[in-house]
Amino acid sequence: MLSLLVHLFLANYSAGAPIMHNGFIYAKIYGGFEKIQSSICDLVVVARLLNATLVIPEIQATTRAKGISPKFKSFSYLYDEEHFIAALSDDVAIVRGLSKDLREARKRIKFPTVSPKNSATPEYYRTEVLPRLVKSKVIGIIVNGGNCLQSVLPASLEELQRLRCRVAYHALKFRPQIQALGNQIVGRLRASGRPYMAYHPGLLRDTLAFHGCAELFQVGILLQALGYPPNTIIFLAGSETFGGQRMLIPLRAMYANLVDRTSLCSQRELSDLLGPEGPLASDSPHPPPPKSEKDLIEEWKRAGPRPRPLPPPPARPFYAHEKEGWYGWIGENDTEPDPSPIEFRRQAHRLIWDALDYIVSVEADAFFPGFHNDGSGWPDYSSLIMGHRLYQTPSAITYRPDRKIVAALFENVSDHRYHPPRNWTIAARAHLNKSANVEGVVSSAILSKPVSFLYHPLPECSCRTAKSVSVQPVKDSHGRLLFGGEEECPDSVVRSLATVSTKNNEPQNEDYEGELPEDDSSPDMQQESDSKSSEQDEEMDPDD
Ligand SMILES: *[C@@H]1O[C@H](CO)[C@@H](O)[C@H](O)[C@H]1NC(C)=O
Ligand SMILES: *[C@@H]1O[C@H](CO)[C@@H](O)[C@H](O)[C@H]1NC(C)=O
Ligand SMILES: *[C@@H]1O[C@H](CO)[C@@H](O)[C@H](O)[C@H]1NC(C)=O
Ligand SMILES: *[C@@H]1O[C@H](CO)[C@@H](O)[C@H](O)[C@H]1NC(C)=O
Ligand SMILES: *[C@@H]1O[C@H](CO)[C@@H](O)[C@H](O)[C@H]1NC(C)=O
Repeated sequence: MLSLLVHLFLANYSAGAPIMHNGFIYAKIYGGFEKIQSSICDLVVVARLLNATLVIPEIQATTRAKGISPKFKSFSYLYDEEHFIAALSDDVAIVRGLSKDLREARKRIKFPTVSPKNSATPEYYRTEVLPRLVKSKVIGIIVNGGNCLQSVLPASLEELQRLRCRVAYHALKFRPQIQALGNQIVGRLRASGRPYMAYHPGLLRDTLAFHGCAELFQVGILLQALGYPPNTIIFLAGSETFGGQRMLIPLRAMYANLVDRTSLCSQRELSDLLGPEGPLASDSPHPPPPKSEKDLIEEWKRAGPRPRPLPPPPARPFYAHEKEGWYGWIGENDTEPDPSPIEFRRQAHRLIWDALDYIVSVEADAFFPGFHNDGSGWPDYSSLIMGHRLYQTPSAITYRPDRKIVAALFENVSDHRYHPPRNWTIAARAHLNKSANVEGVVSSAILSKPVSFLYHPLPECSCRTAKSVSVQPVKDSHGRLLFGGEEECPDSVVRSLATVSTKNNEPQNEDYEGELPEDDSSPDMQQESDSKSSEQDEEMDPDD
């Protein structure tokens, strides 16, 4: 069903740069990878809305790291700055930095700053921010926690939504070294000629200890129910969160080909991405300098008559990680302690690993997201990937399991173990199957779109060709379009696509010809499903 949908890169067309110029916007973005990625898109749109020039945003996670390689500035640590500026030149003027005198003035705090609240409206920017910008010519925007612009915009601003996609999927490219290693990982995963699945556990550090094993075990069972054979290649995104391999045991026991970036790349390849870094104060305790033999004998002689009591043992060394690691603060204190310089550097590194995993997950033949433990939806990182896949490879398999239904399924495993009311495998498979289809896309529109536009960039950022079947639009109770209803693509798009699909043999391009079979499940990945699911059912057998 989904594969018949044609999502073309309508977003890749701009309406021309604004003529008026109201001043400069500089911005600081706090937060991790997901926040950075979506905040940059929002900031570009805000600059466009206000006819302002955007200064390349500063990423706090990298600037605060201090210890990141001097090769990079904040934004260029992660992204290709030149491409970003060039790709958006028709939309928004972007500069690398403020001129010298404006920089000085900024240092002297001559310019106002604003911290927009979550999901700020275009009205807020027009009425609150614009007058101050016009007055001072420079304004700072501090983005905390992402979402500095409402996700759903009025229809009159549809062009701005397309601009968001254009930023996210065309202008915002990782710097070439990251992109190259990401592509190499994809190549290594596909080297055997088999497809691979990417899975991102949605766990936060503080819930990991309690739910990690359980979640991985459940995901393993669900994949088995779907019929994925035990030799399926599964790429684990976000493996940093785990801090150790122990947590992976339940999933690896079912799927031996569970890999992550560390098992697919050499240490060297990974550390090369970071560039040359200066040393930081070490995390290890400093033992006192060793005493020479002469000093020891002197001390012995000075130490008074024998017998003497043994000296007290040396104070137990204090390791920074005992305070800073999650195992240090979990249970002890609700708030994390202030990170050390090493922790800041780790946060910066994590951005790069997240970027690598992002590339691999967007490319994957199938994607399975983890769960938010509160059942509120999918975690941000997974949602970002699901949105990107929806835009770029709508025909690839993307599961959108519903946490509540999955929880109910697992309750039924124990309640009805000996009296199965129905075939559990079939129930689980039916839910997951639906979740990868239109039904899942609609629920993702309801759940995710209000949170972030990039979690569900449809229908604004796609169009359909005359060849593609028109999809019945699905609306919510407020009449808001959730799915389908794409406009027909402009001729120029259709023409340029024809060139793309002859040049490039990637599977997603087959969409344009509408040649893919209707079934969304990849036959390759379902091959051994029969043997596997009967094993699964044996466990459910009442006579077991
Ligand atoms: C931005 O420029 C366009 C014309 O290029 C104009 O229509 C619009 O009102 C301007 N907006 C602001 C906030 O200055
Ligand atoms: C928790 O950490 C904060 C900040 O580090 C500190 O102010 C507070 O006293 C700590 N609370 C407890 C119960 O240790
Ligand atoms: C769980 O079992 C009950 C009754 O046995 C059934 O009505 C319900 O649909 C089942 N739930 C799921 C998610 O399979
Ligand atoms: C899964 O969905 C496909 C269509 O997309 C359908 O052909 C198949 O029968 C479904 N399988 C199950 C178990 O529901
Ligand atoms: C449950 O469904 C699976 C997949 O269709 C099938 O292989 C298995 O035999 C069924 N088990 C029972 C007990 O009906």
